[in-house]
Amino acid sequence: MAHRIVATRYGPPAEALELVQTEPPLPGPGHAIVETKAIGVNPADAKTVRGEMGGDHSRLPLPIGFEAAGVISAVGDGAVTPDGMLSVGDRVIVYRAQGAYTDRLAADLTSVHRIPDELDFEHAAGLLLVGVTAADAVRTAHVESGDVVLVHGGSGAVGVIAIQLARASGATVLATASARNHDHLRSLGAIPVTYGDGLLDRVRDAAPGPITSVIDTTGTDEAIDTSLELVDNPGKIVSIAAFGRASDGIVLVNGSTPSSRRHRAEAVEPLIASAADGSLVTEVAKTFPLADAAVALTELEIGHPRGKFILVP
Ligand SMILES: NC(=O)c1ccc[n+]([C@@H]2O[C@H](COP(=O)([O-])OP(=O)(O)OC[C@H]3O[C@@H](n4cnc5c(N)ncnc54)[C@H](OP(=O)(O)O)[C@@H]3O)[C@@H](O)[C@H]2O)c1
Repeated sequence: MAHRIVATRYGPPAEALELVQTEPPLPGPGHAIVETKAIGVNPADAKTVRGEMGGDHSRLPLPIGFEAAGVISAVGDGAVTPDGMLSVGDRVIVYRAQGAYTDRLAADLTSVHRIPDELDFEHAAGLLLVGVTAADAVRTAHVESGDVVLVHGGSGAVGVIAIQLARASGATVLATASARNHDHLRSLGAIPVTYGDGLLDRVRDAAPGPITSVIDTTGTDEAIDTSLELVDNPGKIVSIAAFGRASDGIVLVNGSTPSSRRHRAEAVEPLIASAADGSLVTEVAKTFPLADAAVALTELEIGHPRGKFILVP
């Protein structure tokens, strides 16, 4: 039998999630079955369980999870990817997955990506959702050499990758975080700034020149209001989370426009390669058994250590 976490209702993860047994999936044409070894946990999973991504009751029980890494255990007819035949035993990431919180995942081959030997399953499982989002934000902000970029939420899973990509483009980067994460931001080449009251003055004091663009991963009014004071054009503020502030003229990205989709698709292979060769640093904060998915999501929502939470089947 296969095991799967589903939401049986919309609400807090501790009340809504159940571990169920199902018949093992069979590989349809153009699909593979992946025996998962690690599953990425994301804020979007908790928002899905709570019904914040659309609370359609006809979709219940609803499989949860957008990304996982594991080993191919079966392939359907026509299981060919651009770089050749997929085979049983191949190590792969599945992103974007439908219902990744399972030990046997049926995956469309367009979402199956090979993992180099150097990249372990846990880091691979948590890489792509946040990685392609960070890459999209950095490209949408047109970050280039000489820019001074402010990243709100620089210690978050998206933020740490956005910092590294902006630094690789030659920009100076300031990044907000709690004080406990400042040394890590410095290690990534960013100038750390504590968020909270007085943020605008602290950014101005720390910045070596005018802020040329902003990447916001927090969605807070403090981040957006501060940013609007710092740049002359709201179109230089790119947010992945402040969807309630669209009327301010900021740029919101979530993979729904053609350019956002293209940025994300083009980022997949470079992210995997740079995570594998160590030039992109990501962290795993904690692992949980698959059965404890509700515990992981609850801890993620109330504040958590830096790095990704990973479920292990
Ligand atoms: N639009 C999209 O396509 C897309 C894709 C992925 C994620 N997202 C969204 O982006 C957000 C971030 O995701 P993530 O995975 O990076 O989350 P995460 O790993 O949980 O990081 C959250 C970050 O927010 C910081 N933070 C917490 N409270 C704050 C406050 N009051 N002011 C400023 N910063 C604060 C934390 O800093 P400290 O820990 O240092 O305090 C941490 O750096 C989530 O809302 C997620 O749903 C959107």
